[in-house]
Amino acid sequence: MGATRLLLVDDEETLLDLLGKYLERLGYEVHACTSAAVALERFHSDPSGYALVLTDLTLPGMKGDAMLEQMRALNPSLRAILTSGYPYVPQSDYVSFLQKPFLPKMLAEEIRRRRCSASASPNRSRTSRQVAVRRSSCSRASPCRAWRRWMTADRRPLVAANWKMNKTNAEAEQFMREFLPRAEELTTSVDIVVCAPFTALRTVVETAGAYRISTGAQNMHEEDAGAFTGEVSAAMLLELGVEAVVLGHSERRRYFAETDAALARKVPKALEAGLLPILCVGETEAEREAGETERKLRQQVQADLAAVEVARLPEVVIAYEPIWAIGTGKTATPAQAQAAIAFVRALVGDRDSAAAQEVRILYGGSVDAGNAAELLGQEDIDGALVGGASLQPDSFLAIAAAAQP
Ligand code: PGA
Repeated sequence: MGATRLLLVDDEETLLDLLGKYLERLGYEVHACTSAAVALERFHSDPSGYALVLTDLTLPGMKGDAMLEQMRALNPSLRAILTSGYPYVPQSDYVSFLQKPFLPKMLAEEIRRRRCSASASPNRSRTSRQVAVRRSSCSRASPCRAWRRWMTADRRPLVAANWKMNKTNAEAEQFMREFLPRAEELTTSVDIVVCAPFTALRTVVETAGAYRISTGAQNMHEEDAGAFTGEVSAAMLLELGVEAVVLGHSERRRYFAETDAALARKVPKALEAGLLPILCVGETEAEREAGETERKLRQQVQADLAAVEVARLPEVVIAYEPIWAIGTGKTATPAQAQAAIAFVRALVGDRDSAAAQEVRILYGGSVDAGNAAELLGQEDIDGALVGGASLQPDSFLAIAAAAQP
């Protein structure tokens, strides 16, 4: 089957370029137009040739909805996504037509990212804050290079629930019904991802429906298909509407022999498929006591991201999870978490300084409603990966609230 033809209409050329490339990576054959008039002309010549039209409400000359109306007159079954700036609002009657359920949220993120960087102001709020990368954190990672200067970054907070092997399908549904209406308001400023067991993914996706809450898996195999009993591929997750995947969690590394070599294939695979990879790294207690924390982080970050092209590094989410703090109630102090995360950021900076400003790095390890605010208040910590405290809506909501800028 050939690629799906998509007509992309927007008057901002950079957006067209960025989004066009992104959509091509998702498997679309993109036809870009900078005005409704040009788009209509193209459409008239082949009204049934486009599987999807993606446009913005505010086009010069003719609005996006008026343009779609004219297109629908020629092809009543046309599928379309109409964005209206940020936050992205999928028109409810179009939602069911979406070929890739994760697309609207991914597009929202792209559009938001672009608009924020276009209007980046040097203020010190958490959404557009100065990020200090200290010499101490970069000196071990590299001979400093671009990290000698202060840099600005704009990183939207992200809070992810890692349910691990908890919650049956029915329990997942119960959680979501209670959680979603209360979380919705937070999603205007915080990205929330619920990483559920495979058996509950469909339920989480379906209950999340039009809410801006994303669903994540907790593992994924790097191959498309094959004789890998018990494993699940990116395509299988995407088909369900899953948008993110936790990779390299320490429990998978420890109990299921997850290796850096496998992760070096999984992370780019997830990106290529359009899934948001949440890559976990972190040291054991013995390694910390032996002064080996930075060596371990360097080894994991360098190996696991080795095959990710620089342009896509900002799309990876990294979770720093000291193994001694996971499920133990023994949280890293905010200073310890900040130092390790600044170091991880510097490691990304060794590949590309701009990517290091953009990449989101979370802290994980006994985060709860009581300690979240202080941890998330650290300048390099962009969110949290939450295990135990994500199992109850109340505590997970409190953590998400603490992540608000
Ligand atoms: P925890 O788990 O919050 O229960 O410590 C965190 C994790 O393993 O991701």
